[in-house]
Amino acid sequence: MRLLLPALALFALALGFSCASTSDAPPHLDPLPRPAVSEAKAVDLPGLHNVVAYTDSMMSGSQPEHGGLETLAAMGIKTIISVDGAQPEVEAAQRLGMRYVHLPIGYDGIDDARKLELARVVRDLPGPIYVHCHHGKHRSAGAAAAIGLSLGTLDTTTAAARMKVSGTAPDYKGLWACASDTKPASQAQLDAASSAFPARWKSTGLVQLMVDIDYALENVKAVEKAQWGVPKEHPDLVPAAEVGRISHYLRELEDDSEVKAKGEDFLEAMRATRAAADKLEKAFLDQAAPDVLAADMKKLTSSCKSCHVKFRD
Ligand code: HEC
Repeated sequence: MRLLLPALALFALALGFSCASTSDAPPHLDPLPRPAVSEAKAVDLPGLHNVVAYTDSMMSGSQPEHGGLETLAAMGIKTIISVDGAQPEVEAAQRLGMRYVHLPIGYDGIDDARKLELARVVRDLPGPIYVHCHHGKHRSAGAAAAIGLSLGTLDTTTAAARMKVSGTAPDYKGLWACASDTKPASQAQLDAASSAFPARWKSTGLVQLMVDIDYALENVKAVEKAQWGVPKEHPDLVPAAEVGRISHYLRELEDDSEVKAKGEDFLEAMRATRAAADKLEKAFLDQAAPDVLAADMKKLTSSCKSCHVKFRD
């Protein structure tokens, strides 16, 4: 350990990382340096993708996967904010000395009440803070920008520059507006924001199913990468089951009352996406050629996107 620490510090310096103070990590984990705000690229760390520092004490990135929570704890993170619809691993984080706050946001931006609520978490709970959505590119970046601007710890130029490093897509205008339009909040405004700081937000059936569909689609993408076999890094995946799951969830959505209430155009878009998912499933079960499957996959993902562009973003 005595040798490892100076070596880590040197490694950190070489990479331009700022070093988290060693006392911040739980005693059983070797401390890890945190990426610095000066970093020109997002970094991947064990169990975490697309990690970008927005301030010295706030980072944005992907949902922690295997080992990701340990990486966060080793970097000294004390509070994790999820702005994603998926249910967070609250207890696993707690065992590592970290608190989860779950405040989902949409792809169309963040309303003032939620911005203040998010900023209050960062003002009132111990840092450093890790803000995440699923991939850590769009929503967590917009949220980190809005939080920093609300608290006056970021300026608009830096906020937009960091969102660019996160890889936020230009199409998400509402998220980019977080970096351009968020005004510094007064202490009184922050005091008036909710301090409920929920560890689990109760997502609607639509959001939960979208999250489930997204995970299934991610697994199918891994299956596609493995030439439509079992991916090496996911030996437990059953390709046919993952492909079938997407259709199954989409069918469930067509019967959801919230979805029905959105009107005929929305339902029509949902049916079109399910037809694309069914087509992919049939082609997969018929052992169609990889290029046929790739084309079906493309149709499916662009079908998701066209509904999102029209009704979500
Ligand atoms: C008929 C329209 C429609 C289709 C088709 C559709 N979505 Fe969605 N999706 C939505 C809407 C609307 C939301 C936002 C729901 C909300 O926040 O209340 C959403 C939200 C999401 C979210 C965000 C969940 C979160 O964390 O808040 C993901 C991820 C997602 N969709 C993935 C997909 C994928 C993958 C597909 C294709 C297989 C797909 N969607 C197809 C309408 C659609």
